[in-house]
Amino acid sequence: MKASHIGALVLACCGLTAFAATAADIEAGKAKSAVCAACHGVDGNSSNPIWPSLAGQHASYTYKQLMDFKDGRRVNASMTGMVALLTEEDMKNLAAFYESKIPRGVAFDSATIARGESIYRGGITETRVAACMGCHSPSGKGNGPAAWPSLAGQHPQYIIAQLQYFKEGLRANDPGKMMRNVVVRMSDAEMEAVANYVAGIR
Ligand code: HEC
Ligand code: HEC
Repeated sequence: MKASHIGALVLACCGLTAFAATAADIEAGKAKSAVCAACHGVDGNSSNPIWPSLAGQHASYTYKQLMDFKDGRRVNASMTGMVALLTEEDMKNLAAFYESKIPRGVAFDSATIARGESIYRGGITETRVAACMGCHSPSGKGNGPAAWPSLAGQHPQYIIAQLQYFKEGLRANDPGKMMRNVVVRMSDAEMEAVANYVAGIR
């Protein structure tokens, strides 16, 4: 193979893993996280269900969200001010710090988790809602290299709010409308059932 072809292959490979290729500094991230702890918890486990837990989340996904808040692709009054002074390096370090933390588990309602599991694993045939598992993985832990989030152990109230935001178009930072296309035909009851199911995954 010609050297130029090898170069192209290397570029193709490393474009995908651009995040992982840059060494992030967990300790520097921890230092920057002091201001985030009020809402997201000192170890990324938030104790208020309207604030997402960040512990154990893929760094690739967390970094993308911080960049999206900073560039206005994702809008939230609390977060817009928080990211204004962060550099890209700060965001990488913060993302690596939270990925290194262990999710603690959250409160959820077990009454509808059987329905939720069925939606998560099989989708909803009648209304052609795709199975969540196809992207968020059978374990609920998402896909790090693709920056698709882990949902396992996330607060159900936060998850329901995000599904509603995608449905109403208030959140529109999902590449290729991947989430907006899924939630468009979901009812409130279906969102609640699937949110409580994933919240309970450990
Ligand atoms: C005043 C409370 C508050 C503080 C302080 C705060 N956040 Fe947030 N954060 C929120 C809220 C509320 C959301 C949910 C936004 C939404 O609903 O879209 C959020 C969302 C996020 C998300 C998206 C999570 C996901 O699963 O998509 C990340 C990442 C994040 N915050 C990181 C940080 C970091 C890093 C800091 C510190 C630099 C910080 N936050 C400080 C309230 C806060
Ligand atoms: C085609 C792939 C795909 C399918 C199917 C899918 N998702 Fe997603 N989902 C994504 C992607 C990609 C994101 C991240 C969007 C971004 O970059 O902000 C996401 C984000 C989310 C979020 C926001 C997480 C957070 O921390 O803010 C929730 C909640 C969610 N998905 C729930 C679901 C549920 C429930 C289902 C099934 C009913 C589902 N998803 C099906 C691709 C998918």
